[in-house]
Amino acid sequence: MYLDPCALTLVSCALYLINIMEEQKFEFSFEVYDSIDELKENDRQLLKEARIITKEAYAPYSNFYVGAAAKLSNDKIVTGTNQENASFPVGICAERVLLSSVSSFYPGASIDAIAVSYQSKIVKSDHPISPCGMCRQSLQEFEGRVKRPIRLILGGIVGKIYVIKSASSLLPLAFRSEELG
Ligand code: THU
Repeated sequence: MYLDPCALTLVSCALYLINIMEEQKFEFSFEVYDSIDELKENDRQLLKEARIITKEAYAPYSNFYVGAAAKLSNDKIVTGTNQENASFPVGICAERVLLSSVSSFYPGASIDAIAVSYQSKIVKSDHPISPCGMCRQSLQEFEGRVKRPIRLILGGIVGKIYVIKSASSLLPLAFRSEELG
């Protein structure tokens, strides 16, 4: 039987790679609803709170008003909005304002769910936005700290709504506090 030397080389390269490389898979799924009417009562109320609170955002530079509302495990509702500054990097997203408020007003409390909404003077708020990278980092550390997943309910003022089971799933391979010893 004739064996092509090129094919043999390819096969041995492939075998070599199989031996040294292990593939890890990350799977992510989330729920999509057509409108707020399809949500369960608690989620619907929380998203309504987030929509309402967008009006209190301080966003004169981006004109992008974000509102976040958390339902705590102790049944309290806490809200937050983005707070901008003329020195742009000083600005803080609604999600991190919210997490700071929860930690300050209810130390040790865990969060069942956070709804995030927005209104813009420039673009339509007809689809969900999801937390920025910095907020994902904060959300995953909060979950780890209180050992409870935070459900995210993401939606604009109208349009589809995304429900994500755990905020940490938005940040695979996150840098975690355990690394610091
Ligand atoms: N922003 C939030 O507050 N949350 C998000 O999830 C995305 C962005 C804010 C930051 C800034 O004030 C404005 O929206 C535009 O980026």
